[in-house]
Amino acid sequence: MLELKSLKKYFPVGRTLLRAVDDVSLTIGNDDILGVVGESGCGKSTLGRLALRLIEPTAGSVVFKGIELTRLPRRKLSLARQRMQMVFQNPFASFNPKLRLIASLIEVCRYYDMDTATAHTKIRRLIAEFGLSEDTLPRYPQELSGGQLQRFAIARALLSDPEILIADEPVSALDVSVQAQLLNLFALLRANRRCEGRNLSMLFISHDMSVIEYLCDRVAVMYLGKLVELAPSDVLFRDTAHPYTQALIAAAPRLGRSRAAAVALRGEVANPGAGNAVGCVFAPRCPHAVRQCRAEVPTLREIGARHAVACHAL
Ligand SMILES: Nc1ncnc2c1ncn2[C@@H]1O[C@H](COP(=O)(O)OP(=O)(O)OP(=O)(O)O)[C@@H](O)[C@H]1O
Ligand SMILES: [Mg+2]
Repeated sequence: MLELKSLKKYFPVGRTLLRAVDDVSLTIGNDDILGVVGESGCGKSTLGRLALRLIEPTAGSVVFKGIELTRLPRRKLSLARQRMQMVFQNPFASFNPKLRLIASLIEVCRYYDMDTATAHTKIRRLIAEFGLSEDTLPRYPQELSGGQLQRFAIARALLSDPEILIADEPVSALDVSVQAQLLNLFALLRANRRCEGRNLSMLFISHDMSVIEYLCDRVAVMYLGKLVELAPSDVLFRDTAHPYTQALIAAAPRLGRSRAAAVALRGEVANPGAGNAVGCVFAPRCPHAVRQCRAEVPTLREIGARHAVACHAL
């Protein structure tokens, strides 16, 4: 479905380059929910934006259903984007406050050349699927709760029947109970599409390990722009390999795991701009770091079935 190949995004900051995404390769299969997890600033949102080509990569490529997006002219890119949609963290920032919700949804349908009858049928169906009542449609965004409005944001993203949804921290701004409802909704959406013989893949970005464990089939763990571990969810949580992933899981309170296994992280997250070209990006904080880790960049390699890790110590 979607293939990210050796993607890089370097931002010039002063005289140095900030390596926001540094040589990341990932694939998302049909119907796959791939979680991307890591601390603030590790490049998750940048990766999501690159996948949709909302920003241009420094190097690398994005292939969506066999189409190379990075070289596509603008007009064709907007056609491809119809099948790829994005949902953001703050729904209040993603709706026009001056438009009633129904008007915002109709506007999207018009953009995709839907006739009025089809648009109304589609909106009604999605609203019902999302457990929203029709009397919310004439309201303004600020008259809804965050949870309700995020449902609208996801419904709006699905109006064009996308095959892939890129969700950037879509539940992080919500109450825990509302988070759980929305996570169920994401799982239900995929199941419903599957019943209709369609696919809905997702790239689900979160900094919350418990959210990732609940929803995702596979997980990609990022640290300072690099992919450090990639595995199916059950494997990642059972046979956690990378010291950074171990620390993230140990720090996630809701997973109820023994803190005895916790790997304490020393020090601060390093500056992604400074001196990271040599050695492992995690070495300054890693309890297992040896001399090789400070001299050579570890490459991602398979250590088990579909389980890859970038670490010299493993
Ligand atoms: N347009 C930009 N110009 C310069 N630096 C940027 C730009 N966008 C992002 N960055 C930097 O790139 C790095 C990765 O940012 P990104 O937003 O992708 O992180 P993130 O993992 O999504 O973090 P968070 O969990 O806080 O959302 C950060 O150091 C950020 O400051
Ligand atoms: Mg982000």
